[in-house]
Amino acid sequence: MFFQKKGETLAIDTSRLPKHIAIIMDGNGRWAAKRSLPRKAGHRAGAEALERVVSEANKMGIQHVTVYAFSTENWKRSDEEVSAIMDLLRHYLKNSFQRFLKDNVKMQVIGDVTGLDQDIQEQIKVIEEKSKGKDGMTVHIALNYGGRDELRRGIEKIAEEVASGSLSPKDITEEIIESYLDTAGIPDPELLIRTSGEERISNFLLWQIAYSEFYFTDVLWPDFGKKDLEKAIYYYQNRERRFGGR
Ligand code: IPE
Ligand code: IPE
Ligand code: MG
Repeated sequence: MFFQKKGETLAIDTSRLPKHIAIIMDGNGRWAAKRSLPRKAGHRAGAEALERVVSEANKMGIQHVTVYAFSTENWKRSDEEVSAIMDLLRHYLKNSFQRFLKDNVKMQVIGDVTGLDQDIQEQIKVIEEKSKGKDGMTVHIALNYGGRDELRRGIEKIAEEVASGSLSPKDITEEIIESYLDTAGIPDPELLIRTSGEERISNFLLWQIAYSEFYFTDVLWPDFGKKDLEKAIYYYQNRERRFGGR
């Protein structure tokens, strides 16, 4: 765990920022329950926290932020909660993501978008298209995303290449596998943040987090802000990364 003394300011080295931060945005439901509000209100507050964090990360000069917004397992929730989340997504695709674009932030979706409603798929295409001309930070939104599903989809494509004779099994290198993932071309996250006190991966970025530093905090996602982001980066910068060496 990481402790900070009251009043202490954290000296972040801006020359050693992580290029890619992955975030498991957890705790929306508990945030709402604490206030006797419906879960939907927690998700709405969570979406606002995402706007804040994207804006801060962009100002700091982070290149990629990948956020877990809806997992392949989240379909198990009540119909009411799933449709509330999808309606919020519709709203945010039309509003905050347009604001991101104004700030030069690019947006990309990872996950199996074919499992989302048609109108949402179309909105995503529009925003990804508009992102092309931007050169700021990229926010990668994981929607209907599961690390195992991502690997399964990638393996299926690789198998098709092998079956058609255009790829030899011996040529399946780690680089080839990476190029078939949703995150192809993006550096692996150096830092993974999970809020709400849970210390598990819940099927997020299984391949990509091989050497990520993990930062767990009890802060519920809707309460997460600039200070918490700075704390996580400070924690990361004070870790000794070894990559199997000594
Ligand atoms: C994370 O918050 C958002 C999604 C999974 C969509 P939760 O909804 O999981 O919040 P808790 O874990 O119940 O507090
Ligand atoms: C992980 O949170 C998924 C997202 C944040 C979108 P969950 O709340 O769904 O994960 P578990 O159920 O606690 O593992
Ligand atoms: Mg949760």
